[in-house]
Order: sequence, then C-alpha cells, then structure tokens
Amino acid sequence: MKLLIIGGTGGTGHQLISQALEQGHSLTAFVRNPQKLNIVHQNLTVVKGNILDFEKVQEVVKGQDTVISALGHKKFFIKTTILSRGTTNIVNAMEKHNVYRLICITSLGINDSRFKLGLYYTLFVIPFIIFFYFIDKAKQENIIRSSKLNWTIVRPGQLTNGKKRSTYKHGVNVGNYLLTKMISRSDVAHFILSQLSGSTYLHKAPGVTY
Ligand SMILES: NC(=O)c1ccc[n+]([C@@H]2O[C@H](COP(=O)([O-])OP(=O)(O)OC[C@H]3O[C@@H](n4cnc5c(N)ncnc54)[C@H](OP(=O)(O)O)[C@@H]3O)[C@@H](O)[C@H]2O)c1
Repeated sequence: MKLLIIGGTGGTGHQLISQALEQGHSLTAFVRNPQKLNIVHQNLTVVKGNILDFEKVQEVVKGQDTVISALGHKKFFIKTTILSRGTTNIVNAMEKHNVYRLICITSLGINDSRFKLGLYYTLFVIPFIIFFYFIDKAKQENIIRSSKLNWTIVRPGQLTNGKKRSTYKHGVNVGNYLLTKMISRSDVAHFILSQLSGSTYLHKAPGVTY
C-alpha cells in the first residue's frame, strides 16, 4: 500500500513510519525538516514541505492510496489555525486527486467526545492551556466529517512515549469523564496501521486508551 504520512517528525509520526516500514508498506513522509527524520529506508521517500502550502500538498498526495495525518504543534497560547488550514489542504488535495482514505489523529475531548479526557483536562488543561488548540482541532474534525473521503478520526487519550503493548481499548465509547486515560504514541501508531484494512471505523471517530 502507498501511504503518505504527515507529521512524521513528531512523536506519533515517527512511530507510524517505523512500524509501517516494518509491515512492508511503501511510504512517503511529508516533513518540514528532513534532517529531523532519522530514518533511512529503501521504501521511504521523504518530501520537504509545509502543510499550509497547497501546491506542495497536492503534489505529494497525488498517487497515494492512504493519507495518515499526525499533524500537531505546541503553539498552545496563540490562536492558530494550522490544523484546520492544513487539514483543508489535505482534504482538498485528496478530493482533487481521487485519493479517498484518510486517517487523522485528533484527541479525546473534541466534539462529541467532550469531557472524555478526564476531569483534570476538562477543568484545567483544556480551558486554560490548550483552549485555542482544541477549537482548531474541533474545526479540523468538522472539515474531515464534511468531506467526501473515507475517513477515520482517531482520538487518543493523553499520549506517552511508552513501549508498544499492542493491547488497548478502542471504540466510540472509549474515554473517561473522571480519570485521564493514557496511551503510548507507539500504540496509537499500531492502532492506526491496523485500520488500513477493514472498515470497522469508516466514518467513525474511535477513542484509543489503555
Ligand atoms: N500530547 C497529548 O497528550 C495528546 C493527546 C491526544 C492527542 N494528541 C494529538 O496527537 C497528535 C500527535 O501528537 P504528537 O505529540 O505525536 O505530535 P508532535 O510531536 O507535536 O508532532 C506534530 C507533527 O506535525 C508537524 N507539523 C506541525 N506543523 C506543520 C506544518 N505547518 N507543516 C508540516 N508539518 C507540520 C510537526 O513537524 P515539525 O517536527 O517540523 O514541528 C510534527 O512532525 C497531535 O495532533 C496531538 O495534538 C496529543
């Protein structure tokens, strides 16, 4: 399968690339800074670009089977629109070039999973630290839901850099109103790659946590 991974220099993106290569996929990683990506493999093509540059995004989307987005950033205190504008570019490029399968990471706590990241996030982290980021993430989800694509939105709990266990909870009812549930970036990557075949979560937004 020809996969395009966006956000490959990030924590989860890096896991996606290494696990997808282990599984024998042919990958393109779209990254701002190729030097940051310390993986070299015959089945990996690295393309430099910014997700806000539509021309570059459509160039890299053309001819792919599936696009996986692990886009994110840490500019929490300013009102940014990187996620929603970047996702608009991804969706428009995919629709233009007839690439239909999109798997995108957002987060528990967004839209109809509101409050499911536990009380600490609901009462403190979301309103005081990641308020603007979450507004943009909600827009990102809405753009995907309104598209013609075969999308799956993956909503992890709090991310860790723990090892891959390959066992975790997933589903539209996953999450907890009281406690913040965790999941490692490696297991988020494992779950996403397990969705490349089958249609269990087509047009759905499953949560994923331990
Ligand atoms: N942290 C948590 O507890 C938590 C919980 C639930 C969900 N999430 C979400 O899970 C996702 C993955 O998180 P993570 O911590 O693994 O990600 P991360 O390390 O923040 O990586 C984000 C990736 O997006 C790329 N990116 C940002 N702006 C870009 C642009 N304009 N053009 C191209 N690429 C761009 C970054 O590139 P650079 O390397 O060049 O910056 C990086 O590769 C994020 O959406 C995050 O919000 C996080």
